[in-house]
Amino acid sequence: MSRFHNGEKTFPTQENKQVMNIREITNDVYYVGVNDRTTDRFEGLWPLPNGVSYNSYIVKGQEKTALIDSVEVGYVQNSIRAILSEIGNEKIDYLVVNHMEPDHSGGIPVMLAQFPELKVVGNKQTIVMIKGFYHITDDDRFMEISDGATIDLGGKSLKFILTPMVHWPETMMTYVEEDGVLFSGDAFGCFGALNGGVVDEEMNTDWYWDEMYRYYSNIVGKYGKFVQKAMEKTSGCKVKYLCSTHGPVWHKELKKVVEIYDRLSKYESEAGVTIVYGSMYGNTGEIAEEIARQLAARGIKNIKIHNANKDELSYMISDAFRYEGLIVGGPTYSMHLFPPVEAFMIAMETREIKNKVMATFGSFTWASAAAKSLGEYLGKMKAEPIATLEMKHSAKESTYKEIETMVDKFVAELRLK
Ligand code: FEO
Repeated sequence: MSRFHNGEKTFPTQENKQVMNIREITNDVYYVGVNDRTTDRFEGLWPLPNGVSYNSYIVKGQEKTALIDSVEVGYVQNSIRAILSEIGNEKIDYLVVNHMEPDHSGGIPVMLAQFPELKVVGNKQTIVMIKGFYHITDDDRFMEISDGATIDLGGKSLKFILTPMVHWPETMMTYVEEDGVLFSGDAFGCFGALNGGVVDEEMNTDWYWDEMYRYYSNIVGKYGKFVQKAMEKTSGCKVKYLCSTHGPVWHKELKKVVEIYDRLSKYESEAGVTIVYGSMYGNTGEIAEEIARQLAARGIKNIKIHNANKDELSYMISDAFRYEGLIVGGPTYSMHLFPPVEAFMIAMETREIKNKVMATFGSFTWASAAAKSLGEYLGKMKAEPIATLEMKHSAKESTYKEIETMVDKFVAELRLK
């Protein structure tokens, strides 16, 4: 029972206004997740300027109650407070673990202690991981389910749909057919804490979209084909509320969110060009600036330039996924590609980025290595550059002519897409 109401969804305040239970998503499905506005970097890597939410939910049937996912260990007491405010002294029968990454599973040992009758529900791989991470040995605390299995809560049932590699091998989704609710794990998630509201229609969602691109490309980006498989597998579900592990619950914007994930997981992009470069003394940087000027002169409007020396890798990856053109350049450094640019190329190779119009430029002073290394990375990604350019020392008249030719070819290819 909510602390905000007594059996009804709303109640009159002293000012005689109606106040919603912001945690009730739909009929006896509640949000009991938490906001993290303290952690600097998700997975120790990705900046969180807007925080992140770890989403957890309660589904109450007439006979049984289930908790869907837990939260990061540092926030488990906040989640328990939210749970108790919804269920009071009632017991929790099941903790469904859709995903084992510790930002969701860290709270499991505390939940087991807090709710002694609770059984952890997961697939074979989930249970192996729980035992490995948290040293829980009592098999009576586990319920192993298989793909397509259901648990009846009384008037509602949980159906388990295994969706491996979205984002780990054990990942699965849980569907409540009676209410059209899909608990989707990391899929359809985004960075950004929740600022009061939980369901998208309760908030201005504008600033979540950029955070969705960044979240997808940084975290899930490598697993596009598995996202596609999961979308195909859940296509028969009549989803009204899409409940991810991070970010708002999607209801009003559900179609837009599914379209973004569908597009990104197929490596489809928007019109525009991302230029990523590194430069020690500005000579290689001048090539990037000139390329951008030449692109703009040919009518390209969405141009994002990142100086890899100082820009966060997270935002470079996000823009590389988002826009159809990608131009990368850097100097030679101790007979290797300049390290910040190399880190970016490794991120591209790791995420198996494809379907881009690509070009590269490298520079050197006495012995060349950067241009060759960039070509090798493209080779590993099975990508053909539309054009390449190499500069010794600094830009000359001939360099500017080469840039013009490169941009002509590049824009012609963009226009073919
Ligand atoms: Fe939010 Fe893959 O964990």
